[in-house]
Amino acid sequence: KRLYLLNGPNLNLLGKREPGTYGKQTLEDVAKLVKDTAWDHGYEVVAYQSNHEGDLVDWIQEADGEAAGIIINPAAYTHNSIAIRDAVSAVSLPVIEVHISNVHSRESFRHSSMIAPVCAGQVVGFGIDGYRLATLGMIQKIESEGR
Ligand code: DQA
Repeated sequence: KRLYLLNGPNLNLLGKREPGTYGKQTLEDVAKLVKDTAWDHGYEVVAYQSNHEGDLVDWIQEADGEAAGIIINPAAYTHNSIAIRDAVSAVSLPVIEVHISNVHSRESFRHSSMIAPVCAGQVVGFGIDGYRLATLGMIQKIESEGR
């Protein structure tokens, strides 16, 4: 069984980018954390990052048929992307949205998510450990629903 891990714009800079907000760990560390967590439960992970909205749409579509679920941090596109929301709605897979920072304690434009209403769940504010929590939640959901 397989999970997709998708990360959006500027997350390639994790570790260097605003470390006070996003921590010192890198995107590679995130991918390793998700892969190790998933592997313990017999899942493999395909991990992608892009700064381009359409790439994320393409990978969400690609995941349908290839994966049992998608863990996504859409980054800034969270707050404005109808295209990513429609892609999530279009696939029949559970999708879990992750944010490293607590978006609700930040600027008001980060408080709303275009994507969250069509997701199975959301993990916010636990730093990169949120990706591990999302992975565990996703696997639990897949297994309990017999997907
Ligand atoms: C983020 C929060 C977004 O508001 C921001 O644009 C990001 C990262 C997070 O993981 O905390 O790029 O998604």
